[in-house]
Order: sequence, then C-alpha cells, then structure tokens
Amino acid sequence: MSSEPGRLHESQQLGTHIGEILRPTTWSEAVELYEASPNALPVAGATDLLLDLSRTPDAEGSGATLLDLWGLPDCSQITISDDDVVVGCGVTHNQIIGSPNLDSALDVLRMACLEIGSPQLRNRATVVGNIVTASPANDTISALVALNASVLIESVGGEREVPIRKFFTGFRQTILAQSELVRSIRIPRWNPQTVGTWFKIGNRTAQAISVVHAGIVLEFDEATSLITKADVAIGSVSETISVSKSLSEYLVGKDLDAETSAAAARIVASEISPIDDIRATAAYRTSVTETAIRRALIDLSEFSTSQSRAVPLLGWVANRPTPPQLNLSPTTEVACTVNGSSVAAQIADNSTLLEWLRTNASTGTKEGCAEGECGACTVMLNGAAVTSCLVPTAQADGSSVVTVEGLAEGSGLHPVQQGFLDEFAVQCGFCTPGFLVAAAALCHENESPSADEIRAGLSGNLCRCTGYYSIVEALSGLPTGRDSS
Ligand SMILES: Cc1cc2nc3c(=O)[nH]c(=O)nc-3n(C[C@H](O)[C@H](O)[C@H](O)COP(=O)(O)OP(=O)(O)OC[C@H]3O[C@@H](n4cnc5c(N)ncnc54)[C@H](O)[C@@H]3O)c2cc1C
Ligand code: FES
Ligand code: FES
Repeated sequence: MSSEPGRLHESQQLGTHIGEILRPTTWSEAVELYEASPNALPVAGATDLLLDLSRTPDAEGSGATLLDLWGLPDCSQITISDDDVVVGCGVTHNQIIGSPNLDSALDVLRMACLEIGSPQLRNRATVVGNIVTASPANDTISALVALNASVLIESVGGEREVPIRKFFTGFRQTILAQSELVRSIRIPRWNPQTVGTWFKIGNRTAQAISVVHAGIVLEFDEATSLITKADVAIGSVSETISVSKSLSEYLVGKDLDAETSAAAARIVASEISPIDDIRATAAYRTSVTETAIRRALIDLSEFSTSQSRAVPLLGWVANRPTPPQLNLSPTTEVACTVNGSSVAAQIADNSTLLEWLRTNASTGTKEGCAEGECGACTVMLNGAAVTSCLVPTAQADGSSVVTVEGLAEGSGLHPVQQGFLDEFAVQCGFCTPGFLVAAAALCHENESPSADEIRAGLSGNLCRCTGYYSIVEALSGLPTGRDSS
C-alpha cells in the first residue's frame, strides 16, 4: 500500500497514547464512573487494549481515557459456592492456573489458560478480557462455552446474567451495551459423572494464535455409563465459537468407545467450514479438528484427562497493592520503588511502564517488539514477571519493580547472571536482560528447574541470535534459592 507524498504510511503513524486514567475504588463506583464517562475504555490487564491503542491513530490527539479495573479489590477473586464457581473480572490466567484443586470444573478452563501467550502475559491478562475481546481464536472462550458458563453484566441500570453462548454477536463483537461492564463469569460446578477436556492446535508451543481449539464436556449416567449430555465448542473455525448440535444429538444415549469417538469426530469435521489463513488451510483445519476431537473423546472415555500439566508461573502470587492515586493524567507523578530505590516522575508521554522505566530508571530494560511477543522488556512488578511494554505506567503507580539492574547484590552477580557468563549464553545481548529477569523469577519459584521447566518458564522470551541451548544450560543446576522479589 503506498502513501500520499508527505504523509506517513499507516504503519509509521503513532497510535493513541493514554490520556486520563479513571480509577474507581469500588465496583459500584466503577459502574457509575463508566456511566458518567461513556467514552472511557475499561481496562484490566491491558494486554489487548494497549495493542489496540497502538494500532489506532489518535484522530483528535487527546489520547484515550481508561477506566482502570485492575486494582479493584473484590474483582480478582475466584469464589466457590455449592452450585458454581465465580471468576471475577480481574482474575488472570495465571491465577486460574495457580489455583489447582479449587474445583474440577475449573480444570477445563485451566487447560485453556495454560496455552495462552507466555508466563509474563498470563500474569497480566484476564479471563474476562479474553472473552470481551471476543476473537474466535481466544482460547478460554471454547472452554467456557463447553462449560456452559454465563456472564454477569452490570451497569447503573441494573445487572443481567447472559449465557456465554449468547454473549458473542459476531467477529470481535459482544452484546455489551453502552456503559455495561462484565463483573464476573459464573461456571456451574460438575456432578461426579462429568468429565471434560480442552485442546489447542497451534503453530508453536508458546505465543501461538490457535489454528483450532476446542472444549468438550460430557456427562454420563451413573448406572448405565451412557452419555447423558455432550457439550462441544470449537474455536478459530468461524466468526464466533461454534457449538456442535449434531454431535450432542449423536452422542447422547451412547456408550463412548473408540468407534463412537471416531464417528463423532467425523460429524464435527463435516459441520465446520473453517477459513484459509496465514496460520493454516481450511483443509488442514478440518482434518486436524477431526483427529484431535477423536483423540480427546477416546481420552475422555478412559477418564484420562482433566489433568492439566504444571507450568512455571513466574510470580502470579504477587499482591496488587492499593493504588495510591485515583485519577491520573500525563502530568501526574508516578512513584515506584525500582530496584530498592524510590523513583518518582511524571507519566508525560510514557504511556507504558517500559517507556517510563527507560526514561527514568532502567536503560537495561529493552524494547524489542513493544507488543508482548519477545520478552526483552521483562521486569518483575510486585514480584510477578511481566512484559513492561504491555503495562500502562499508571497501573504501576506505588509498585515495586525489579529490573535487570536490580538482580545483582553489590558486586555479587545473581546466580542466573553468573550462569549466563559461565555458559557463554549471550551473543548480541539484546534479549539478555529480559531472559535474566524471567530466569530469576523462574528460579525464585523453583530452585532447580528441569530443562523442560526452564523452556516453559522462558517461553515468553525470544533470542534472535537463537542461543537457546546455552541459555538452558546456564540455568541447569544453579544454586538459586535467593529472594529475588
Ligand atoms: C503477545 C500476546 C500473546 C497472546 N496470546 C494469546 C493466546 O495464546 N490466546 C489467547 O486467547 N489470547 C492471547 N492473547 C490475547 C490477550 O492476552 C487476552 O485476550 C487477554 O486475556 C485479555 O485480557 P486483559 O486483562 O489484558 O484485557 P484488556 O486488554 O484489559 O481488555 C481487553 C478488552 O476487554 C475490555 N474489558 C476488560 N475488562 C472489562 C470488563 N470488566 N468489562 C467490560 N469490558 C472489559 C477492554 O475495554 C478491552 O476492549 C495474546 C496477547 C498478546 C499481546
Ligand atoms: S515483549 Fe515487550 S518489548 Fe517485546
Ligand atoms: S543474544 Fe542476540 S537476541 Fe539473544
């Protein structure tokens, strides 16, 4: 695409910066503020929103107004009652992953959360943000649809609960009306005869947008073991998540064996009409869906799933301190403890924590992609590894930040730094600060990670010099039991 002479190409134009941040202290205040400021954009972990802003030219130049829901105290809770599990709008993917054994119904959601982005991303990105973005490739949606979840929506006009199957109206579109916020997601609890699973086919093991993903939940009759209910939801194959009606009709009343599983998978594959895109052809999507559904059903018939593997979390347990200032603007001075020292500086045009740190405190923290993909900007925010390019500066106000400059103690290198030196795990060095901070968070969580755990823990960090082998070697067998929070 060519530009007019004298005009920047679309890709060269600056996106929208953050103008004002409105920060409610309670949920009811949030609802009222949203009614009073209908142009404000609700924000939780900001991993989708900041990218959208960066890709939207700021026509009026005044910046976006955000309604900050991240620090709201009662929103980051997972609540369990006799009938359901309620996931608040501030609950992150790593919070779901890091709460095993809360309830078996959450296992299916946990499997989806495990496959989202990278550990750093999962420390910020929320489940509610994932459904409101409403891309059919968003992984938690197929899990929640299969789980028959419902969405609790609120505005000053009142509240309503909508089955998640009716929440999506089209590609990236939901039924949310002006001034309505999602408060939480409600997932019905299972009876003992319920089993479920979830899978994702992607082109790589981390940071992969799904080629296809699906959630499956089956209920069996206790006496006969015949299927009494079958919910299958498939993502990335149409504009919204598709729910297979014929599959459920076919499976109910049947015994689940290999033959039934294969026939059921053929039914699903014949029902979908996926798109061809850069990630996969339609033919591949159809074929892989059939194979993956068949295998998933066979696993379920043997009751061998619903066990999600453990992965490093890189510090999700970090607290969310009460934000010291309510409404912020670019002239507001934000104060953080960076590597143990107080740093206070205006937000100015530093919309992201990465920009603010590089301007005021840490040139060691690098900008690679500025889109959450490469991990070069990784810092620890209140103990959790995050990609600082996706953290609005205002959300870091009052926080404790550790950058690569804060890992060493005096002249003593952090063990992960020493490991990198010993194994020559540095080539051009651009990715190294991000790797070191992520590695320190990993080793803080797990003193002697295995090679697989190292690979999983560092899956959000890319090295363009491709020195991965020596990086894994550098972290194998380290004496890393020191406090790096
Ligand atoms: C590098 C990268 C990799 C990714 N990988 C994956 C992946 O593998 N799988 C996947 O599914 N997703 C992926 N994502 C997408 C993203 O991380 C998720 O969609 C995330 O869960 C969004 O949550 P958030 O809290 O960051 O939302 P935000 O960015 O804060 O908000 C997202 C949207 O929801 C709105 N919103 C937020 N909270 C509310 C509320 N309570 N009420 C009403 N509206 C609200 C916002 O206005 C915005 O429109 C990736 C993103 C990045 C940047
Ligand atoms: S992930 Fe932040 S700069 Fe690449
Ligand atoms: S050492 Fe060059 S990018 Fe990793």
